[in-house]
Amino acid sequence: MEDTQNKHSPIGIFDSGYGGLTVLKEIVKKLPQYDYLYLGDNARAPYGTRSFETVYEYTLESVKRLFNKGCHLVILACNTASAKALRTIQQKDLPIIDPTKRVLGVIRPTTEIIGNYSKTKCVGVLGTSGTISSNSYLIEITKFFPDMEVYQEACPMWVPLVENNEYDKPGADYYIKQNLDNLLKQSKNIDTIILGCTHYPLLINKIKQFLPYELTLLSQGEITANGLSDYLKRHPEMETKCSKGGMIKFYTTGSEENFNSQASKFFGKEVKSKHINL
Ligand code: DGL
Repeated sequence: MEDTQNKHSPIGIFDSGYGGLTVLKEIVKKLPQYDYLYLGDNARAPYGTRSFETVYEYTLESVKRLFNKGCHLVILACNTASAKALRTIQQKDLPIIDPTKRVLGVIRPTTEIIGNYSKTKCVGVLGTSGTISSNSYLIEITKFFPDMEVYQEACPMWVPLVENNEYDKPGADYYIKQNLDNLLKQSKNIDTIILGCTHYPLLINKIKQFLPYELTLLSQGEITANGLSDYLKRHPEMETKCSKGGMIKFYTTGSEENFNSQASKFFGKEVKSKHINL
């Protein structure tokens, strides 16, 4: 074990790559008092087209790494990992690893509040192939809002565009327009779209450009930050274990140099990362 299991420890934030930084940014805005450890598995991103078993294996490895660094609470700031690995980790792995530790995702806090946004009760979900084929959004939304219609579209090219720094270039336009058209032709009543991938906020200007009419676009950063804040209020036993020093550390399984140059676009501030192996 690399670090001692301090009683007070940072909150772990995990993503396959850079996307989780859009969530961390909002979490830090809402809850600046806590310490955070960010882990991006950039060496193996994207996760979106990988099998259930692989996403589960990679996510579990990453969560264990953050536990080894002392975290008591880890947020999967990744929809693909939340859709494919979270439940198994919560139900099967945590009781064995340490029943006092917690892992939370981004899908639940998003689906819980979607009823506050859609007037037509008709929402669209954009996500990776893994997230969409898991039907997690469909299942979770209809659990909370049984009369809500949910339409989905997988956008397998969007994460690679972001990870490869092509998200604001003209080449991205074709894929964004194509996927938006595919989603919106499923129903004329869609009034709200969930950006069900934490990489997608980087594409928001392009997405707005290709929307044929005005729609509510929901990113998950603020939603997850509010969800975490509520969780810590409801769970004082966990809150007291979270260290409060306003410190953020960034780890990547990929190149530090690449991470540092890309991450500031997601996080909005300069970032200095450290490479780690899982
Ligand atoms: N940010 C991840 C998500 O929210 C991207 C997954 C990927 O690596 O493809 O789904």
